Amino acid sequence: MSQLLARGGRRLEGEVAVQGAKNSVLPILAATLLTEDRVELRGCPRLRDVDASIRILKSLGCEARWEGDSLLVDTAGLKSWSISDILMREMRSSAIFLGAILARCCQADLSYPGGCELGPRPIDLHLAGLRGMGAEIRECGGALLCRASRLLGRDLVLSLPSVGATENLMLAACGAEGTTTIANAAREPEIVDLQSFLNACGGRVSGAGTSTISVEGGRPLHGCSYRIMPDRVVAATYLCAAAAAGGSVYLRNAREEHLSAVTAVLREAGCGIRPDAEGIACCCTGRLRAVRPVRTAPYPGFPTDAQAILMGALLRSQGATVFEETIFENRYRHVDEFVRMGANIRTAGRVAVVTGVERLQGAPVRCTDLRGGAALCVVALAAEGETEISEISHIDRGYEDIARDLRALGADISRRDP
Ligand code: UD1
Repeated sequence: MSQLLARGGRRLEGEVAVQGAKNSVLPILAATLLTEDRVELRGCPRLRDVDASIRILKSLGCEARWEGDSLLVDTAGLKSWSISDILMREMRSSAIFLGAILARCCQADLSYPGGCELGPRPIDLHLAGLRGMGAEIRECGGALLCRASRLLGRDLVLSLPSVGATENLMLAACGAEGTTTIANAAREPEIVDLQSFLNACGGRVSGAGTSTISVEGGRPLHGCSYRIMPDRVVAATYLCAAAAAGGSVYLRNAREEHLSAVTAVLREAGCGIRPDAEGIACCCTGRLRAVRPVRTAPYPGFPTDAQAILMGALLRSQGATVFEETIFENRYRHVDEFVRMGANIRTAGRVAVVTGVERLQGAPVRCTDLRGGAALCVVALAAEGETEISEISHIDRGYEDIARDLRALGADISRRDP
């Protein structure tokens, strides 16, 4: 099993380019199915979840190949509308293919993506929206059998602003007759990126980034060449690494407008953050200060994906910080690993209180999930001695090469493959 070995205590210094966004490219890969054409995705990150999406596309009869950092997808050869249970389980967000396959093939057979390490991950809002557009969906024995001789544009209202449901319904709406509106839509930057991609393919989608999205369906979509937006959670990880270890770093491609909830907290903790047209500079000296309560919330609130990562940076802060996780039920599994390294954290349900300690010690720890794993790297750089991080396949889902990037910033971290 691969591991990461990190030796903490070094100040970070240097520059790194932030990879393309996982949460943007996954729905865009599903959206390529709407085009029956060739699509070039530039700046496409090479990730385990992207490989899983490629396997799904190939299993449906599509072609996909890499050319440098571009992924070329050709969906003309699509010959199947069903995704096997094994492929569905490889990646939690495989449900996003449902809307696209249904729009293209008028039917889709796949299995339930199931729960995950963050707690239950239902897709009831996705299914309710698709049913609202005229799809018949039968759920039996973990399988989802979906039929829609025609999808109809409708006024849909989400009971909560789910990112995945918003994306799934945007894709289905592209293949529906008439106009669909999605009210209480998620406002994440990745939704805006999906809209930009669909419009680059000839779609008519508007409103992404606000709570109401409108999609004029029934227009044939064509291929395009599109650059994936930079990954804001990866950028948050490297900002927090600099905050935890101290130092002065520059993150090329990072966009502060996507990260303002995170940079506001880091500034409050004492970091100097200077965005410019090409990226973000971050300078941190001395011990961080504890901050006001951090409550995760849908965008533009504090991202749940950055909760563990920020917590990792604040373990050695002066004072106590309260975290409240409002999005997922089970998102403090990293806490036990932090405690092994000397952290002082108490959790009660959705609340965690972090009281800063003076020193952290390296230890053997294991990744419990993707962002919890990235957070362990952040903590390791602030700890004394060596940290051995195992079960890093979680990290590979969302980071191209976290050790390479952190080394570019001067960290002592390397990967050991068996
Ligand atoms: C996406 C992101 C993930 C991020 C999350 C919240 C991708 C690939 N993943 O996940 O990294 O942590 O947004 O920002 O983009 N819910 C329901 N019913 C549904 C759908 C969701 O109850 O049908 C609930 C979920 O259980 C969760 C909350 O809504 O409590 C938010 O989930 P959602 O926004 O859908 O997250 P994902 O799209 O799964």
